[in-house]
Amino acid sequence: MNKKKWTFVSLMFALILALAACSDSSSNEADGSSGGSDGDAKLDIFSWWTGAGEEDGLNALIELFQEKHPDVEVENAAVAGGAGTNAKAVLASRMQGDDPPATFQVHGGAELNEGWVAAGKMEPLNDLYEEEGWEDKFPQDLIDLVSKDGDIYSVPVNIHRGNVLWYNTKVFEENGIDVPTTFDEFFEAADKLKAAGVTPLALGDKEPWTATHLFETVLLGELGIDNYNALFNGELSFSDDQVVAAVETFKKMLGYVNEDHSSRNWQDASQLVANGEAAMNVMGDWAKGYFVNDLELTVKEDFGWTETPGTDGQFMVVTDTFGLPKGVSNPDDVKKFLSVLGSVEGQDAFNTLKGSIPARKDADVSKYDEYGKETIEDFNEAKLAPSLAHGSAAAEGFLTKVNQAVNIFVTQQDTEQFIDSLEQAASELK
Ligand code: GAL
Repeated sequence: MNKKKWTFVSLMFALILALAACSDSSSNEADGSSGGSDGDAKLDIFSWWTGAGEEDGLNALIELFQEKHPDVEVENAAVAGGAGTNAKAVLASRMQGDDPPATFQVHGGAELNEGWVAAGKMEPLNDLYEEEGWEDKFPQDLIDLVSKDGDIYSVPVNIHRGNVLWYNTKVFEENGIDVPTTFDEFFEAADKLKAAGVTPLALGDKEPWTATHLFETVLLGELGIDNYNALFNGELSFSDDQVVAAVETFKKMLGYVNEDHSSRNWQDASQLVANGEAAMNVMGDWAKGYFVNDLELTVKEDFGWTETPGTDGQFMVVTDTFGLPKGVSNPDDVKKFLSVLGSVEGQDAFNTLKGSIPARKDADVSKYDEYGKETIEDFNEAKLAPSLAHGSAAAEGFLTKVNQAVNIFVTQQDTEQFIDSLEQAASELK
């Protein structure tokens, strides 16, 4: 590069930096969150629910809130990327810079308790629970997931199920496939489909969490709930033979996925099932919201579902919750939002679109489709397992390392190396 060009590039770079600094400070001013506490702050709601299959429920909830509180200015501050791929990093830098959003999406369990609560960043919400009479409205298991040392720190808006195998009903019919419930049946179906030229299993691991999601359902199916849970409280080692067997099953499954898996996200992978290019995928039931609301498929007619192999009677719990960060300038408005989010009306507005079931026990079941009704029943009867891929089972440090290890495993398929990485990551577990 000659000197002139070099000077030009340096100048442009300096300009970009200056502009970035400006826009940063102006956006802080705009949302009133630059440390000011003038009470005029916007209610910025932080999540990763943008785009297809994600934002409809949130928009419905915001609309309901605005009907009830037209005086409060709301800003939807969502950052795109499934499972918080990008949002979690943005949130961390805002929290570290003492610039918390008014409220933010956080999974119940370790992500909340070992993350933000342990760091002293959240206000307890016991008073709100008491005022709203919520203590017996949410299942105790869920309240436990959002509590630490006797205090409650967030309000669950939903319960998603992670261990769902979705399938294209026509593809199954045309190929004479019985709905698989065990790993043997799954592989039998997969061989038949492969021979017929259909991709058996859709995967979209452009964002690596989807492969971790698939892996955790295999762990649950192979180990059973007690041993699955034992992995996260240090009672069972990741080098245990059962984990090695689960990794081998996971590897075998990867032999049946679409070739372009690393260039697709979860919606793109679900699309393969929707249009019949692939027969099945494993995804949380936000995929149902996407199938129905965005792709306009009909429940049961166009797609069916079952528990992932070996997990009948077990429920991988993913719960999205919202809390009150310390230091926000508009805590009363935040509490107003949480009250709507935790109300029957709020839960039904959100969950009928999101694909999830309500976290409250007294929501209006008649508003849910066949999938929703069945899942509400299953939740009440099944044994509950906290999801790793979605923050409940273990703290973020561990999950980040597992996502990296899974991502390497998907390409290299080296079981020994993967088990070693999981074991090393386990040092992050408390
Ligand atoms: C999960 C979240 C769900 C859904 C999904 C895909 O972590 O709990 O609500 O948004 O990610 O982005």
